[in-house]
Amino acid sequence: MKRACVIGWPIEHSRSPLIHNYWLKLCGIDGVYTKKAVPPEDVSTFLRSLASHGLVGCNVTVPHKEAALAAADETEASARAVGAANTLWLVEDKLCAANTDTYGYMTYLNLCVPAWKTRDKPVCILGAGGAARAIAHGFLEAGVEEIRVFNRTRARAEALARQFGARVKAHDWEERTSKARDAAVLVNTTTIGLNGMGSLEIDLTGFDPDCVVSDIVYVPLETELLAQAKARGLRTVDGLGMLLHQAVPGFEKWFGVRPEVTQELRDRLIADIKGSKPC
Ligand code: ATR
Repeated sequence: MKRACVIGWPIEHSRSPLIHNYWLKLCGIDGVYTKKAVPPEDVSTFLRSLASHGLVGCNVTVPHKEAALAAADETEASARAVGAANTLWLVEDKLCAANTDTYGYMTYLNLCVPAWKTRDKPVCILGAGGAARAIAHGFLEAGVEEIRVFNRTRARAEALARQFGARVKAHDWEERTSKARDAAVLVNTTTIGLNGMGSLEIDLTGFDPDCVVSDIVYVPLETELLAQAKARGLRTVDGLGMLLHQAVPGFEKWFGVRPEVTQELRDRLIADIKGSKPC
């Protein structure tokens, strides 16, 4: 039996087992995917000994993604560009690492609104953490000329801009409404809105009617930001798609089959989200 898992600290909230075990069953593969809480001081040792834990690989979530990149013998360009890894696998005795968050976000955006890229307008990103880096990298790869990053702690937005070069510009958090109205895509990568907590306090009045509004928060599935965008007739892209699509490359590496993100799988996740208590 092939085994993989997701590690994080904490890890209870992770829905990755639901996704991968669904695919394992659907594909008739003799495998299992579990979750394991690993404290920061043990991450590197754990990752360096995957085989002795009987694992073919693992996902890594908050706060271990930078440590995962550092622990790997071989890294894909995706992980190096973002400075973090979320997917690890073994090739013989070598630990390999990739970042599939960029792939997950861009794949779902392209599926939902393929026309987003026909507009020669900036992309506006709220937040400047690891998720923001993965998404900025995706838009740069897609050829976007200007990315505006708005972050509460301006220094982090500036660090992100420095990392990615002249096409990425840092802005004050207070400018998130006034300087985003012409955006082709507005994306929230902050934790605001998670479990219905907090408000981005962004006013979408006067936003270009073609602006695509997306959120990487998926609990609740329709965040306050997405609800406001819908009410104004703007197209929206929810955060669940990114979660589902980022899982595809890992499953393929570990189990040798490229799985599909189906409506049935999405519905299962939605049911789980609706039935869960806030964490
Ligand atoms: P991740 O790596 O998952 O993206 P992170 O690095 O913890 O997570 O980043 C969380 C983001 O949410 C940051 O941009 C953070 O802003 P700061 O850099 O100023 O901390 C943002 N964030 C979290 N709570 C916020 C709040 N109440 N108001 C504004 N921004 C917030």
